Amino acid sequence: MEDFWSSDSVLKHDLDLVREQIRNTVDQSHGFIKSLLKGHVNSGGKMLRPALVLISSRLGNQDSRFDAIKVASILEMVHLASLIHDDILDMALTRRGLPTLYAKVGAKQAVLAGDYLLSKAMALVGDSKGDLKASAVANAFGRLCESELDQDAAQGDFFISKPTYIRRIAGKTAALFALSCYAGAATTKAELTDQYRMHRFGYAFGMSFQIQDDILDYVGNENDLGKQTGRDLQCGIPTIPLILALAEERKNNSNRPLAALLTDKGRQMNNKDTAKAVRMVVDLGGIEKSSHMCDVYRERALADLSLLSNTEVSSTLRSLFIKLIDRPS
Ligand code: IPE
Ligand code: IPE
Ligand code: MG
Ligand code: MG
Repeated sequence: MEDFWSSDSVLKHDLDLVREQIRNTVDQSHGFIKSLLKGHVNSGGKMLRPALVLISSRLGNQDSRFDAIKVASILEMVHLASLIHDDILDMALTRRGLPTLYAKVGAKQAVLAGDYLLSKAMALVGDSKGDLKASAVANAFGRLCESELDQDAAQGDFFISKPTYIRRIAGKTAALFALSCYAGAATTKAELTDQYRMHRFGYAFGMSFQIQDDILDYVGNENDLGKQTGRDLQCGIPTIPLILALAEERKNNSNRPLAALLTDKGRQMNNKDTAKAVRMVVDLGGIEKSSHMCDVYRERALADLSLLSNTEVSSTLRSLFIKLIDRPS
């Protein structure tokens, strides 16, 4: 993933500075937690949120460029902490092709490592001279937690509505994307209309990104993704391919084998049940219909981009968006 950004040498360089800032912060941590966190922060994520901060910071005054690097580091650390916690909730064993912290040290230590990383991120917010407010970071992380809690509390209930799903992914993913896109522009004091447009773009980007991730959990390749597939079903988490497949089944069939399988097995789905359910979701058009929904957010995101005052930033974000939404991983 390190060369994901190689076509933009300035961005690549700034992302190296972000990595350095995160490494320096983690280096100051408690001895035991240090080695755990070092492995996690160096495991080669896409650095998408900091990249969004840095690109959007090009909309404003370039004298504040260094503030944007710090803001980008903070938001990536918040993301990294959320992944540690998410892997505990999902009991996920691999991420980025490597064992998760949960797999390595168990839930108790992993939860503390995530909290610790979050505390370090918040400490940096306190230092920041830019426009990133602690309350904005706390709000985005709060929404993420609310949605993960909402999802966890309803685990095993496969029959949720589309609006419930939309509310969940808006909180768990789109809120941080929106903040990343907005924060770069706000830090460099870009025009207010550009700041609002970036927020809207980030929201639509986050929504389509999570829909795509949820599609890939059904039909993606584990090696490309670096994480296990089929986890959502196995953990009792209904996502959009399933919701739309169940709606289709309800419409067409008096006999409803997918709904029956889910009701019967609930949270006890083994690999064979999961494979069977995945096949039914695909056959009922769940993936295709989800892609259409992804396209709706895609159009919304591209429409907001086309209104930005800086066409170079708009075209950079457009290429990034298209590359990621069509990603195999
Ligand atoms: C993973 O995000 C979590 C989701 C919102 C689907 P990324 O795919 O950006 O994670 P890394 O940092 O690149 O591993
Ligand atoms: C996104 O949901 C989790 C966060 C935003 C923290 P997922 O649970 O689908 O993410 P992955 O698939 O584990 O990366
Ligand atoms: Mg997960
Ligand atoms: Mg997922």
